[in-house]
Amino acid sequence: MTATTGQQDGTQPSGRIHPVTTSPRTAVADEQAPAAVPARRKRMLTGDRPTGKLHLGHFVGSIANRIHYQREYETFLIIADLHMLTTKNARKDIDEVAKTARDMVLDQLSAGIDPEYATFYLQSAIPEVSELNTLFQNLVTVPRLERVPSLKDMARAAGKDEMPYGLLGYPVLQAADILCVKGDIVPVGKDNHAHVEVTREIARRFNFLYGEVFPIPELIESQITTLVGTDGQAKMSKSLGNAIMLSDDAATVRKKVAGMYTDPNRIRADIPGTVEGNPVFAYHDAFNDDPAEVADLKDRYRAGRVGDVEVKDKLTAAIDRFLEPMRERRSTFERQSGLVDEIIVDGTERTRREVQVVVAEVKKAMGITGSYNQLRRKAEQARKRRGS
Ligand code: TRP
Repeated sequence: MTATTGQQDGTQPSGRIHPVTTSPRTAVADEQAPAAVPARRKRMLTGDRPTGKLHLGHFVGSIANRIHYQREYETFLIIADLHMLTTKNARKDIDEVAKTARDMVLDQLSAGIDPEYATFYLQSAIPEVSELNTLFQNLVTVPRLERVPSLKDMARAAGKDEMPYGLLGYPVLQAADILCVKGDIVPVGKDNHAHVEVTREIARRFNFLYGEVFPIPELIESQITTLVGTDGQAKMSKSLGNAIMLSDDAATVRKKVAGMYTDPNRIRADIPGTVEGNPVFAYHDAFNDDPAEVADLKDRYRAGRVGDVEVKDKLTAAIDRFLEPMRERRSTFERQSGLVDEIIVDGTERTRREVQVVVAEVKKAMGITGSYNQLRRKAEQARKRRGS
């Protein structure tokens, strides 16, 4: 199976670019079910911290699923800048968020996310998410969070020898993201699996204590969980300099593929090579849409009847076939100045309205709204008695 699921099953984006983001979903639902109250559409929520442009590893790890499910589910895509702060909170990092957010949304639109279906939003612009985070903090224990392996990795990667409070709470904030729109499915890469588990625990705990408010969100795993780097390191990552970006042009792709790590024991084309664990073939498997060509290259590689140059040339061509439609969509979006910003801002406003409804329901279920209402009623009576 290639990583181009979205294209193969006919869910290719329409290619039409709409600056207006009024929801077509409501209209359809109304037409189809005029008498009955239409069932709530199931929701997908996922996204990224604004850390930079996206690469092929992001595509197979999560973007492919976003494209695949965007029409079936009502889709929310977060730009998680509050999560970024848990490891990167210098003023200069924050100053880059607007640009990074724009780059990442453009990458996703180019990859095939259709803004008619998916709603992008900036996390920090919805303060009710932080409110929900505060309320959720009491539904999970510190030792539970200390057992989440990704947090220690993130602390180490950020050069911190002690765990920041906010980083320990990373999965709780993520639960607030997922549950603030009552997300039903969460397609994420391996690093985030444990976070979704914490979300499920928080949702169950909330429902147990305060009544059935939340769905228990389901983790959606990717077909390809991790993509090796061009250098053969376990993971493709921009900071390791071993990534092919979705925005790379053909010349850049050619250069990166030419420099890729292959079977180090194979110093001549007539020496039999190993296909398993070989990054060049991992990429052929993931991105080459011509399985017969891949099978033939593997056979000849194992038999010592093909040179690395041919294997890499064919990989370059395959990745270009994969990226070319993205380049076309990218230029369509880029030609319309401010369109990406508009998509983010409209999406944030729409999401905020949804979140406000959910957070109001949460506070009512918890009895928090009631406390202040009692005080308000009494205060009102006192004011009346005084005749003011
Ligand atoms: N934790 C995700 C990352 O690794 C970003 C993120 C924040 C997220 N909130 C989310 C992903 C909610 C899925 C659902 O960048």
